[in-house]
Amino acid sequence: MEPHALVTGGAGFIGSHLIDQLLAEGARVTVVDNFDPHYDPALKRANLAPHRGHPRLALHEIDLRDAAALNRLPGEFDLIVHLAARAGVRTSLADPVGYQAANVMGTVHLLEFARRRGIRGFVFGSSSSVYGGCPRLPWREDDPDLTPLNPYASSKLAGEHLCRIYAELFGLRVVSLRFFTVFGPRQRPDLAIHKFARLMLDDQPIPVYGDGSTARDYTYVGDIVAGVCAALRRVERLPAGHHEIYNLGNSRTVRLDALIAALEAALRRHAMIERLPEQPGDMHRTWADIGRARRQLGFAPATDLETGLARFADWLHAGAGEAAAR
Ligand SMILES: NC(=O)c1ccc[n+]([C@@H]2O[C@H](COP(=O)([O-])OP(=O)(O)OC[C@H]3O[C@@H](n4cnc5c(N)ncnc54)[C@H](O)[C@@H]3O)[C@@H](O)[C@H]2O)c1
Repeated sequence: MEPHALVTGGAGFIGSHLIDQLLAEGARVTVVDNFDPHYDPALKRANLAPHRGHPRLALHEIDLRDAAALNRLPGEFDLIVHLAARAGVRTSLADPVGYQAANVMGTVHLLEFARRRGIRGFVFGSSSSVYGGCPRLPWREDDPDLTPLNPYASSKLAGEHLCRIYAELFGLRVVSLRFFTVFGPRQRPDLAIHKFARLMLDDQPIPVYGDGSTARDYTYVGDIVAGVCAALRRVERLPAGHHEIYNLGNSRTVRLDALIAALEAALRRHAMIERLPEQPGDMHRTWADIGRARRQLGFAPATDLETGLARFADWLHAGAGEAAAR
């Protein structure tokens, strides 16, 4: 019998790509998602639309803040991938309480569910933002100076701590994955590449915070999905009570001004820049050391920025999200 995976946040950007892969591999998949209105839920429905009616896919619209609803979820699951979250840094400054409720309370409800149901392995979608102001680059998982700079980042670090605690106290097997700025088709519309691209196609100026020297380690969504699948294979083989952490990044750091130039090339459009002050709570630079993920997970990111942006541009030009949403 193929494994049965419960994927929270499976209607979202990364989650829906993972669903594509798990179904292609023959797994049974149950998605839990509340179609949070943080961005248009129609886009999330469009993400899953190609699999509507699939015999190995079930969808349950449950809010993880509602433990009673979660505990009524029917089915027996082997593995959990927890990707549901209020995502995004800047919006977390406007709603810190909402972020903690979804990301911290939601995570503890799900860990409790995993403990009660005897789940074999739990993979948690964490974030590079937990490093925040950590001064030693590239960032390594064992760096003790984690310095989250905003409410979103603190909620992700709290999630990691809860994962470790549930492993140590209750014998769960858990892998936490720190994703570094993920991009590709279906990217969240609030993320810079997607937001900039739409403005550029509409001949509107793009808001650029700071002088363009901030930098990110952009990671293609297909590489992230490969890393999550490798973590799923590993987590089941861990001894009970173990919690491991891995960076999933491309391990190449790209300045914002270079990203904009690459996006101009991918879209064949000129970017008009509206220069704004650097935002409080933003990180200056992110950069993943992926040595541990290479060794233990066989993680080998294969898609460079230019190739990934070309795929993103194709998706955008095809109007894929909107068309499927209609
Ligand atoms: N995209 C990135 O660059 C990035 C980077 C680091 C970490 N992450 C993490 O990866 C995960 C997926 O991110 P994404 O970019 O695909 O975001 P996304 O917003 O597209 O997906 C998250 C999904 O979770 C659902 N959700 C939110 N709150 C929920 C709740 N209370 N109950 C049930 N479902 C809920 C949303 O409806 C959405 O479909 C998140 O945990 C995010 O923090 C993403």
